[in-house]
Amino acid sequence: MIIAIDGPAGSGKSTTSKLVAKKLDIAHLDTGSMYRAITVYFINNNLNLNEIDISSVMNSIKLEVLISNGEQSVLLNGDNVTSMLRSNKVSKLVSKVSSIREVRQKMVNIQREISQDKSIVIDGRDIGTVVFPNAEYKFFITASIESRAQRRFDELKDSDSNLTLEKIKEEIKNRDHYDSTRENSPLKKANDAIIIDTTHLNISGQVNEILEIINNN
Ligand code: CDP
Repeated sequence: MIIAIDGPAGSGKSTTSKLVAKKLDIAHLDTGSMYRAITVYFINNNLNLNEIDISSVMNSIKLEVLISNGEQSVLLNGDNVTSMLRSNKVSKLVSKVSSIREVRQKMVNIQREISQDKSIVIDGRDIGTVVFPNAEYKFFITASIESRAQRRFDELKDSDSNLTLEKIKEEIKNRDHYDSTRENSPLKKANDAIIIDTTHLNISGQVNEILEIINNN
C-alpha cells in the first residue's frame, strides 16, 4: 500500500506522515530530505549550478536513505548528513537544485526502489502526480501562509537568532512559487488527492483526519 502525501513548505507533511506511518506500523520516506542532501553536496563542494556537467556530478553521488526505528538518516557517499539538512542555507538553495531534471530522475528512481514490495507513507511535492500516480491513497496537505511561516519560525528560532517571521514568510513564499512553477514535476495537487487544510488543526488533528479516511475505506 502506498500513501502519498504532498503539499507546500511548512504544511506539516513530514511530521504528519511520520506519525501516520507509526500508527499503521508501516515505513515512512521523507523525500524532501533527499533533495536537501543533494543540496548539501552542492554547497559542500562549492558547485556552481550554471557551470557543472550535471550528469557526471550526479554519477559521482551515492545517496542512501536509512530507516531505523521510524527515524530517517541520509548518507551522502557514506557520510551521514542528516543534521545539516534543515539549515536555512540548504532551504534557500534546495528548490533550485530540485528543479534539475537529472536530480529528479535519480531521486525518483531511489524512491521507487525503496518503496518496492512494502507498505509506505511517502511525502513530498510530486508523489501523487509523478512518483506514484497509482497510489492507493493521496493527500494534499495545505495551510495558510501565516500558519506555515509561524510553524517554521517556531521550529528554527532557537537555532538562528537572526531569523524573523517576515523573513521566513518571504522564503516560504519564494520556495512555493519556484516549486509550483518549475517545468519538471511541479508541486501540484493530483486530481484524485484529498485536500487536508491544516490551518486550524494541530498535528494530532491532521494525523487523525488522515487515519479516519484510511480506516473508513
Ligand atoms: O519541510 P519543507 O516543507 O520545508 O520542505 P521539504 O519537504 O524538506 O522539501 C524541500 C524542497 O525539496 C522543496 O521545497 C522542493 O523544492 C524539493 N522537493 C521536491 O522537489 N520534490 C519532492 N518530492 C520533495 C521535495
